[in-house]
Amino acid sequence: MDDNIVWHQATVTRDRREKMNLHRAKLLWFTGLSGSGKSTLAHALEERLHQRGCRTYVFDGDNVRHGLCNDLGFSIEDRTENIRRIGEMSKLFVDAGVIALTAFISPIREDRNKARELFAEGDFIEVYIRASIETCESRDVKGLYKKAREGVIKNFTGISSPYEEPENPEIVVDTENREVDECVDSLLAALEQQGVIPNVVV
Ligand code: ADX
Repeated sequence: MDDNIVWHQATVTRDRREKMNLHRAKLLWFTGLSGSGKSTLAHALEERLHQRGCRTYVFDGDNVRHGLCNDLGFSIEDRTENIRRIGEMSKLFVDAGVIALTAFISPIREDRNKARELFAEGDFIEVYIRASIETCESRDVKGLYKKAREGVIKNFTGISSPYEEPENPEIVVDTENREVDECVDSLLAALEQQGVIPNVVV
């Protein structure tokens, strides 16, 4: 980094923003295979948090790849850069006092851990949305697994590119054979049990 770049300390701090919002800021980092339910659950959880008066924002892999990350593909290097940008961006949102929810496959453990290291202890909540590759492939909501099997899409996660499961996620939500509402309820219960929600909603 350039030695001539000097950090400017804002007078409006995260703490002041959190007091105004009446809740703590957090990052809920959803990871899982394509079709596991990350975006669906992140948006459904956001709806519930919004109803409780929380300031929230969901970053979704497909959407961010239309803009901020539209120069990146699906090689391991590009995915690493994708996750690096998302980590930095969500750090700014947490500083802005928001409960940020990120829904990216984020297949590489080290990339997720590097994102975690950007945050203070307890601010980064890793949420593993678990569904087997067979289930995700049978759902094939976007028709991408079929294309991956046909070789039309290269480097597809779970088929021709790796997915490294989280080793110690704060929360695991199993979406096999479970309805969305049930999964969101268990997610909310886990957040409450771990003290994230009482800390969040004052
Ligand atoms: S990540 O690996 O870099 O975290 P990200 O979450 O941004 O991936 O994007 C994944 C989405 O891109 C998938 O949900 C799917 O719709 C689409 N996609 C297109 N090509 C691929 C691919 N080769 N592997 C995985 N997802 C892909």
